[in-house]
Amino acid sequence: MSKLTLRDLEVRGKRVLVRVDFNVPTEERDGALVITDDTRMRESLPTINYLREQGAKTILMAHFGRPKGRPVEKYSLRPVGVALHNLINHPVAFSHDCIGADAEKIVADMKEGDVTLLENVRFHVGEEANDPIFAESLARLSDGLYVDDAFGAAHRAHASTAGVTRFVKQSAMGFLMEKELKYLGDELAQPARPFLVILGGSKVSDKIGVIKALMEKADTILICGAMANTFLEAQGIHMGSSRVERDKLDLARELLELAEQKKVRFLLPIDLLGAEEIKPGAATRHSGRISRDYSIPDGWQAVDIGPETITLFKSEIARAKTILWNGPPGIFEIQEFSAGTEALAEALAEANATTIIGGGDSVTAVKHAGLADKMTFISTGGGASLELIEGKTLPGVAALTDK
Ligand code: 3PG
Ligand code: MG
Repeated sequence: MSKLTLRDLEVRGKRVLVRVDFNVPTEERDGALVITDDTRMRESLPTINYLREQGAKTILMAHFGRPKGRPVEKYSLRPVGVALHNLINHPVAFSHDCIGADAEKIVADMKEGDVTLLENVRFHVGEEANDPIFAESLARLSDGLYVDDAFGAAHRAHASTAGVTRFVKQSAMGFLMEKELKYLGDELAQPARPFLVILGGSKVSDKIGVIKALMEKADTILICGAMANTFLEAQGIHMGSSRVERDKLDLARELLELAEQKKVRFLLPIDLLGAEEIKPGAATRHSGRISRDYSIPDGWQAVDIGPETITLFKSEIARAKTILWNGPPGIFEIQEFSAGTEALAEALAEANATTIIGGGDSVTAVKHAGLADKMTFISTGGGASLELIEGKTLPGVAALTDK
């Protein structure tokens, strides 16, 4: 069912309540909170700028961290408001509470083109509980118009992402939401083939649903990262002191069987980089071709894919027409363990294919390699991307007004 988009709304002179995902990574430097990656903010600028150009009064609401229903100073969105001011080159009013008399007064004073940012919606228990009274208090700030641009939070059925829609006249998707659904939804539903999926990251258990869903669609799935250790161990390849989910070995065997049934090529690393410790400067050693007889020795852990695997994965990337990448093959944050991740990022950048980076650490990896602008699409979602790829309905999308 297609949903209203921002362009369908008459916003001039109206107070429009906009849910954004400004849950950006931060770091404390000299006692101040510094945003280390403002991509999520930048990606919402088309929506915010459009509303300003149209003469709307834009009321932004967002969550930040997990303060669990009470005000916690370090989860205040105030510094994010300051950063937004710089990005849009226009003052951003800030309301210390997202509901109540003060917020109502601030929005009542807004002029066309103005922007207000409300304090973290998760400072109220009503947000995650999707409490209708709280949702209604949020809705009251608007003139009956709601826009959801928070793709990264669309898998949450919270008051600001879902409940609020019951108390406004029209709910539409913002431009970022629209773009995310186009690439992760439509594009992957009818992928140009061969369709290659690269799945990395640490846990099989996080990705079971996604692996199963992708077996229905993908031609080839490359498994890497610590998740691959569990699959290798399940095949009797001893992984030394590597991270293995021992309670998921049966599940890994089941997934390997399923791949065979579905005739999906399911490839695991054929060689690995081992390290004695997970820290910069640790001793490292390539495993050579791994087998049941020879792999990672005890006392050593797999920290990246090896050169033969890189060659194998690169040849798969070169043949593919659609590539989805979620999760890095190694601990790329440590320079000595980053060769596999960098090689994959470079191969994707050169590929003659639609390349979709499905959220989380692989996004950081692509940016780290300086290749973000070489990809067709990079998702701003983590959990939301995975759930969408899995074929689940996202509550934040379902709640929007049908066209
Ligand atoms: C995210 O950062 O993944 C989204 O903003 C959702 O945050 P949450 O996992 O705390 O709900
Ligand atoms: Mg999350």
